[in-house]
Amino acid sequence: MSSQKIQAPKGTLDLLPPETARWQTVERIAREVAARFNYFELRTPIFEHSELFHRAAGETTDIVRKETYDFQDRGDPPRRLTLRPEGTAGAVRAAIEHGLLNDMGARHKVYYIGPNFRYEKPQKGRYHIHHQFGAEAFGIASAEQDAECILLQMHFYDRVGLKGTALRLNSLGDRTSKQRYREMLREFLLPKLDQLSDDSRRRLDENPLRILDSKDPRDVSACTAAPSALDSLLPESRAHFDRVCELLGEAGVKFDIDTKLVRGFDYYTGTLWEVTAEGLGAQSAVGGGGRYDNLVEQLGGRSTPAVGFGSGLERLLIALDAQQIKITPDVAPLVWIAYHGEPARREAFRLGQSLRAAGVRVDLDLTGKSFKNQLTLANKCSASLCLIVGDTELQSNTVQLKNFATQTQTTISRPELLGQLQMQSRPAESHPSLPSQHAS
Ligand code: HAM
Repeated sequence: MSSQKIQAPKGTLDLLPPETARWQTVERIAREVAARFNYFELRTPIFEHSELFHRAAGETTDIVRKETYDFQDRGDPPRRLTLRPEGTAGAVRAAIEHGLLNDMGARHKVYYIGPNFRYEKPQKGRYHIHHQFGAEAFGIASAEQDAECILLQMHFYDRVGLKGTALRLNSLGDRTSKQRYREMLREFLLPKLDQLSDDSRRRLDENPLRILDSKDPRDVSACTAAPSALDSLLPESRAHFDRVCELLGEAGVKFDIDTKLVRGFDYYTGTLWEVTAEGLGAQSAVGGGGRYDNLVEQLGGRSTPAVGFGSGLERLLIALDAQQIKITPDVAPLVWIAYHGEPARREAFRLGQSLRAAGVRVDLDLTGKSFKNQLTLANKCSASLCLIVGDTELQSNTVQLKNFATQTQTTISRPELLGQLQMQSRPAESHPSLPSQHAS
């Protein structure tokens, strides 16, 4: 058997402590923000029937053509399954399957946090597995609902302290407006067929909107003077978009209109948006979303308006790092217990258990190290306080309480211990950080 080391697959990241503590804080903030907006958590499977993503994202999108992780399982006959590349399709499938859209005028607001899988060329900010915090609001067709989703997303960035965000907005309008835009774009690009990439030549007939999303320089150049999506909007779609812009303006959210923004999924109708953040380099989109009023029906549900967004957590943490914004981890100060001698060692173990039961974060040496080495270990583990137990303390039912920050040491009677720990504990101001792991 080979004893060669096995490494994580390229395009994936290990998240190690204390980096994971930063993730937990970001995830806690995401949950708090979602709760403030009255969105409830939805957890869907990591894989679904392949057909779900094909039908939702669109057969001609890059996601479906080039990026999905498709596999067959061991069933008889085997099932064709796909690791989810995004959260919207699964959320819609689950909402239909469990009848969430049958009550309250189909009003349902959900959020999710979890991994997604895309076979894209890995680079900084682009991985084969990435995590998203996303939210989806079903049943409400108004511009206010679009604005609420955008405000939720921006509120999340504010709460984590992200700076240098820029929001770009566009609208593809309803089914008819979108179809009109498709035709306009096809007519505009037809004379430029020779200038397009091979992929885009094929897309011109299949799905010309995808050409606007292409990063190939030939396509980018051919689309420079492309018509604006807003010019194809029917009056009702235009009024909806204007209202979204007005609501964001009133909420003090700055944005730019980008008439070429189409995003990578076919399900979008109406408002679309993307948020970039400083410090991300080439992969600058930290999150994006939009309205998808036809998707529920397309996936077998009754016609239900819907809108949502997804925000990449790896990219968010990279941007926060680049902007030198500290995320304070949600860890209580560590209390260390050090002991002199065997009887005290037993008592230290018992004391540790009773303090943990009372809610204190406690650790101690379990191997019988010398007292000096116990203190070295306490230091390495960034303990804030240290309880010292020896024969004297055992006899007098006391402990020595050493405060590492103030370098003071006092004798505390055991009945007073919990109160003293609470008084002297201060939330950790910072946490040692590992070197960044986000480089590809
Ligand atoms: P998306 O724009 O494809 O939208 O992904 C959302 C965010 O996920 C991106 O802005 C980016 O931050 C992050 N992301 C995407 N792919 C990768 C990757 N390979 N590596 C690292 N981060 C990545 C959606 O997924 C839609 N489902 C959003 C949505 C929800 N629209 C409506 N509802």
